[in-house]
Amino acid sequence: MAEDLVIIEGTRAEKYASLYPQIQSLLAGETDKYANLANIAAAVHEVFGFFWVGFYLTKENQLVLGPFQGPVACTRIPFHKGVCGHAYTTKETVLVPDVEAFPGHIACASASKSEIVLPAIVNGEVVLVFDLDSDQLADFSEVDQQGLEKIIRLIEESWTSWV
Ligand code: SME
Repeated sequence: MAEDLVIIEGTRAEKYASLYPQIQSLLAGETDKYANLANIAAAVHEVFGFFWVGFYLTKENQLVLGPFQGPVACTRIPFHKGVCGHAYTTKETVLVPDVEAFPGHIACASASKSEIVLPAIVNGEVVLVFDLDSDQLADFSEVDQQGLEKIIRLIEESWTSWV
């Protein structure tokens, strides 16, 4: 496995297109879910420089902090709380242009201004949410949603073979 990430100049869509096969090769042959989620968080963080990039895993009836890159964060989120909880309960991607305007948003860091949270669903159950925070307002768009959902599909396809 190549451990060097190639970061191209270009639009965000082009960066997602370049990142995707690199994530595929980072995951190839590795079945440890924490190792793989850690590398996904690191790769996305390194390419885009978002403020916070990480995972909350469904565990013990709540969302529990998993691998991430960025400042320290809340460790446990109830299923019905925050943007992460909303993604968990609706089983849909939640795009929040202004976190101050999202009722119940959990402010782990005051620098966070916009957020996108994507659920990974395996056998009908949300196994984790992928949470990205930006220190810019309205930083995430459908381009991010599409690029990140492709990564989520990879996680969903691999999940049962990971330990
Ligand atoms: N803002 C999230 C909490 C997690 S942190 O952003 C890392 C939420 O409202 O669910």
